[in-house]
Amino acid sequence: MKMWSGRFRQPLHPGFDRWQRSFDFDRRLLRYELEASGAHARALKNAGILSADELIAILQGLEQIGERAAVSTPFLDDAEAEDVHHFVEKQLAALIGDVGYKLHSGRSRNEQIATDLRLYVRAAIDHLRQEISELCGAIIDRAEQARNTPMPAYTHLQKAEPVLVAHWMLAYVEMFLRDVERLADCRKRLNACPLGSGAVAGATLPLDRALIAQSLGFDEPTANSIDATSDRDFAIEFVNALSLLAIHVSRWAEEMILFSSQEYGFVGLPEAYSTGSSAMPQKKNPDLLELMRGKSGRVVGNATALLVTMKGLPLAYNKDLQETQELLFEPADNMLQMLPLVTGFMKAVEFRYETMEQAAHTGFMNAWAGATYLVKGGVPSRLAHECIGKAVQIAVRRGCELEDLPLEELRKISPAFGDDFHDSLKLASVLAIHDVPGGTAPERVRKAIGVARNKIQSLREEVHAHA
Ligand code: ARG
Repeated sequence: MKMWSGRFRQPLHPGFDRWQRSFDFDRRLLRYELEASGAHARALKNAGILSADELIAILQGLEQIGERAAVSTPFLDDAEAEDVHHFVEKQLAALIGDVGYKLHSGRSRNEQIATDLRLYVRAAIDHLRQEISELCGAIIDRAEQARNTPMPAYTHLQKAEPVLVAHWMLAYVEMFLRDVERLADCRKRLNACPLGSGAVAGATLPLDRALIAQSLGFDEPTANSIDATSDRDFAIEFVNALSLLAIHVSRWAEEMILFSSQEYGFVGLPEAYSTGSSAMPQKKNPDLLELMRGKSGRVVGNATALLVTMKGLPLAYNKDLQETQELLFEPADNMLQMLPLVTGFMKAVEFRYETMEQAAHTGFMNAWAGATYLVKGGVPSRLAHECIGKAVQIAVRRGCELEDLPLEELRKISPAFGDDFHDSLKLASVLAIHDVPGGTAPERVRKAIGVARNKIQSLREEVHAHA
């Protein structure tokens, strides 16, 4: 039986009927639909609509539906079901008879889908936070293994200053930790329960909304029935948080692609995560990284599509809202598939420390440290910059590095160049002077690794508490 056939004299056009269904994609919400339905049934019992026996029958029916769905996919191949809500109602009636139709008393699919989606996003957030903590753990392990190995840091993709490889890696941990915070923040705001909002004006039965909310792990019931049934902010926030996460993965992928090119040679691609060329036998290609960069674009696209779907929707429920579902599922799936691969890749990838270190010795990356030497000797910064700039000019002409220029020659530029100038250009000194919180001085980086580890540990505990 349809959920709404009474008013209609004609059957639906079969093409339209098929086309408007959402069961193909909202079946994945079944477990949340069953959970929420159980909570509603208990509230109906408390409101005197269901007898104790009817409640038991309904709860057992719901449980059976869950069990059957878990063991058999054909069970879910229900061409009749309009959506997951209709599916549960149909199956319940088939299992326990007309009592099954009592479950829908005083509720609307508008509040159900809003609830199911919040439960789905909440679970996805918990899963994502766990995956991100795994990834960060793997990055920190690699940062630790890199010890004090230096590499070039780039600005404008030109060699800028040497940094520790570990420092570079920890930059990504910071990005991913912000993603985790954004997801946690989104979780906080979405954790209110729409059940009891009815179709738009609030339930028509005296349902104990606080109890329903509590039993589903929500912090409270939503405050306004019109908003609760039409709100998809949580989906937008979530997918936007995912977009940023995807962009962080994409930037990481881009760097790994560059660094694995023969021109850089900093990174050896792990065979388990690379592919060959059907034409060029020598090739080992970074397809995984490229696909990540590519897929991140789709996540951003979904975030935009969600916003545009919501733009201009009058309050409250409109069927357009059904279109928000796939826009939400796709990026969540995408990121949940991607993250373990990023982690696996990060564990397997080869960092060519020698090449990185060699690259850190060239390209005048000690120029600013040289200028700092002069500044410490009392030379005004702008003039110090000019002096070193001149020295660089000479070195470029000779095809050598700054440290290869003899002191006498430097003294012609400025008498401020002293006997210890060349020491200040050594890689170890250059690294060491970046001795501020957040800087790349080895001692700072060592501490930063410890701080990052602690953050990941508390994140793991928090995620564990939610599970
Ligand atoms: N499948 C619908 C959706 O995803 C459920 C809500 C239907 N509500 C309605 N009034 N037709 O939005």
